[in-house]
Amino acid sequence: MLEADKLFTGSIPENYDRYMVPLIFAPFAVDLAQKAASLSPGAVLEIAAGTGVVTRALAPKLSSDARCIITDLNQSMLDYAASQQGFDDRLEWRQADALKLPFENAAFDLVCCQFGAMFFPNRISGYREAKRVLKPGGRFLFNVWDRIEENVFADDVTNALATIFPDDPPCFLARTPHGYHDTALIRAELEEAGFSHVVIETRAEQSRASSPRIPALAYCQGTVLRSEIEARALGKLDVATDYAASAIAARHGDSEVAAKIQAHVIAAA
Ligand SMILES: C[S@@+](CC[C@H](N)C(=O)[O-])C[C@H]1O[C@@H](n2cnc3c(N)ncnc32)[C@H](O)[C@@H]1O
Repeated sequence: MLEADKLFTGSIPENYDRYMVPLIFAPFAVDLAQKAASLSPGAVLEIAAGTGVVTRALAPKLSSDARCIITDLNQSMLDYAASQQGFDDRLEWRQADALKLPFENAAFDLVCCQFGAMFFPNRISGYREAKRVLKPGGRFLFNVWDRIEENVFADDVTNALATIFPDDPPCFLARTPHGYHDTALIRAELEEAGFSHVVIETRAEQSRASSPRIPALAYCQGTVLRSEIEARALGKLDVATDYAASAIAARHGDSEVAAKIQAHVIAAA
């Protein structure tokens, strides 16, 4: 992962929430929220919460006396998340780095994290922090994307951009969001961080959009790929987005499009 890969700033939070969240994050948020709620946790910590798709799915399922602290490294993502959530005095928003959690030991029944672990510069340190703030017997519930070839639109966009920039293809998607999918490695890193019971489920969903332009916009303008495109061709973001849209249309058709997305969902204790 490059240092710049964790900068979800500028116009990214709004575009991320408008395009990326419904395209690929929402179905997995429903799944994670269901799994989290089935544990009936009293004290929950969410890390790398982004624009709050898991928070919005989970909050209605928590008991009236539950408490949930929602954190992210980037204040702008957290601000956007808070702005989308109605008032709820069970929820508290706090900027926090997953590798240096500002919480006491054994404070939470559940730590959850949707598609954040790939951004930790040191996964074992991040997992140790999750383990430290969990009460004995508490659960760490998180998910990570599977390899890019199992996530069709991400792969299509990456291949299209490699055609436009053959000498220096923007590789953010393959490098970071889809760069941590080896389940043996995930299990080994969790065990090194002190978790002894690890269950990994590989889960496929469908990514759907009303036109091929939506996934092109989502990936090219709602992720850090945007900064990579602008660094290579200032003022050509729309040209690159159009090219990615035509590549998706060529493969999936001109109207509604749908394709596979796949992730690993992990429960550790
Ligand atoms: C792909 S987004 C996922 C956001 C959200 N969980 C979702 O499902 O939409 C990754 C998030 O990780 C956050 N992030 C990156 N590095 C982080 C770190 N070291 N600690 C906490 N959050 C981090 C980013 O700000 C971003 O919001």
